[in-house]
Amino acid sequence: MKKVLIVAGARPNFMKIAPLCREFQKHRGKFRALLIHTGQHYDFEMSETFFKDLKIPKPYIHLNVGSGTHTVQTANVMTAFEKVLLKEKPDLIIVVGDVNSTLACSLVATKMNIKVAHVEAGLRSFDRSMPEEVNRIVTDSLSDYLFASEESGCQNLKKEGVHRKKIHFVGNTMIDTLLFNMPKINKSKILKTLNLKPKTYAVMSLHRPGNVDLKESFLEIFDVLKSCTKKIAFVYPVHPRAKKMMLAHGIKKEFDSLNNLLMIDPLGYIDFMQLIKNTRFALTDSGGIQEETTVLRIPCLTMRENTERPVTIDKGTNVLVGRNKAKILKNINRILKNEDYGSRKAPRLWDGKTAQRIVKILSQ
Ligand code: UD1
Repeated sequence: MKKVLIVAGARPNFMKIAPLCREFQKHRGKFRALLIHTGQHYDFEMSETFFKDLKIPKPYIHLNVGSGTHTVQTANVMTAFEKVLLKEKPDLIIVVGDVNSTLACSLVATKMNIKVAHVEAGLRSFDRSMPEEVNRIVTDSLSDYLFASEESGCQNLKKEGVHRKKIHFVGNTMIDTLLFNMPKINKSKILKTLNLKPKTYAVMSLHRPGNVDLKESFLEIFDVLKSCTKKIAFVYPVHPRAKKMMLAHGIKKEFDSLNNLLMIDPLGYIDFMQLIKNTRFALTDSGGIQEETTVLRIPCLTMRENTERPVTIDKGTNVLVGRNKAKILKNINRILKNEDYGSRKAPRLWDGKTAQRIVKILSQ
């Protein structure tokens, strides 16, 4: 029996590990898979609610590291995770995505000669000012199994000289979660709760340091939103990082003053996906929303200058708009005129069976 530790720490990780936990459970004669929560995200709406919504088993060990600078957070995860590895001696660890916990745990395991599998390998924005890009590059360079979600990931890894035997194109576990939970998503009552009608509103989500940490950039977004809310109502579930920066910059009252903007606390997975499914479009800087909207064929305006998920652009649903007001308004006009944003086909292997493929490869 092989012992596997699955690592998760921050909000987008939970959607990516849920199908893996389920799949390993089906193969429990062969694997003993245990979940380690680093505690990078700790607010109820950023963590526990996803365990409930997605029926993820209670973590075997919780490291409770919490927030800090990148160095402090990464170092705290490393110190705590080393103790876990010394005690548990797993055969393999699985890390997902690109958050600080992903980097920290892959580094500790590699130094202890424990094999590392990286789910969502090979994605590159080619922008090292993004903390996630550094996390991706380092994690991939250390990993033994590189599970790519889209073909660009495989190409990037090959270009970086990774041996082709280590690279596996398996699809997207986040989309496994979306498809698996669709019946529950369809039953969510969140539109009623928020008094919204399908396709009459837009959703904004925002948290990247590049957009919210500097007052100037955050104010640029406010200016964009001021114009956009004249065209359509916006719902904005506010990420704790954005909330913290809004208060620190002293600009919350500006946002509060917009009539057509509904600011709410972060939502759980099921309610948020119902909100996304029925939105006219998303205005976002998130990675996951770019992917989810592609499968749902919802227009997505990404407030970044680049994306590590180019398949979402190729499929036509996603457009990079940065904080460029003219570009954003032009796209909103197109969307409101019902112009088509997206192909009928989901990206290859985004079919709900990615976790199955991963566990099959690991079994062999
Ligand atoms: C992290 C990930 C990012 C991911 C995002 C999704 C890194 C480098 N970044 O960004 O890739 O897209 O999660 O949410 O790993 N905070 C709370 N409660 C929480 C968590 C955070 O209040 O439960 C606040 C704290 O003030 C904290 C700040 O948010 O300092 C930032 O949290 P952190 O985990 O450092 O990064 P995120 O911006 O959440």
